[in-house]
Amino acid sequence: MEPKIKIFPDLDGLADYLIARIHRQLLKKTEGQYYSIALSGGSTPKAIFKIITEKHANKINWSRVAFFWGDDRCVPPSDSESNYRMAYENLFKHLNLPELNFCRINGEDEPEGEAKRYGERVDFMLPHVDGIPQFDMVWLGLGEDGHTASIFPENIGLFHSDKLFETSEHPVSGQIRITATGKLINSAKEVLFIATGSAKASKVAQILEKTNGWEKLPASLVNPKHGQLIWLLDKAAGAELLM
Ligand code: 6PG
Repeated sequence: MEPKIKIFPDLDGLADYLIARIHRQLLKKTEGQYYSIALSGGSTPKAIFKIITEKHANKINWSRVAFFWGDDRCVPPSDSESNYRMAYENLFKHLNLPELNFCRINGEDEPEGEAKRYGERVDFMLPHVDGIPQFDMVWLGLGEDGHTASIFPENIGLFHSDKLFETSEHPVSGQIRITATGKLINSAKEVLFIATGSAKASKVAQILEKTNGWEKLPASLVNPKHGQLIWLLDKAAGAELLM
């Protein structure tokens, strides 16, 4: 299925669309079913969380949303590098979200063992399609090097792992991380790439227009088997697209 591309004048417009989409999809769930979202880390979701907290906190019945992570850093939950901590400080705390509604990666634990444990947890908690757990929605960011989740060009092979989660090493900092693999990402009902700012524009164009070496970028490999891929961009990130 061809990706949908939506370009917004600013982050507020992008957040409005995102919330409306979650609200619409949640309405399709029967009573007792929850809506599962795998979050990404980094500065883009942090900015979106703040807008949700300020403008959309009451628009969703958050008690019916279960939050997971597509990746996190192998650090304690109190560490400023933790994607879980960033989500807690900028969103969950303000929504009074009970612990029951999120399932974090235990970054403080031994990485290989935690990648296995978290994969088993996700496998247990989610419905399956073709034997693979299926998120309702996966948020992905785009690194300036074309990485996504914590799969980098230097270890792009992780995308093709038969596991649901793998350990990964940041190519510059050496930071150990835990990341969802392509097997899990491409099983999702919806995958949303959320990219903003001019620094992402060239990679966005390279990936979406399949130009010069696009296939070497992990983000290019995201192609949900049963679901929809949607790129949510601001004007700056979409500036180099020829559409
Ligand atoms: C992480 C993310 C990572 C992020 C990109 C973009 O744990 O850092 O999951 O894949 O989405 O690096 O980050 P920005 O939104 O900060 O540009």
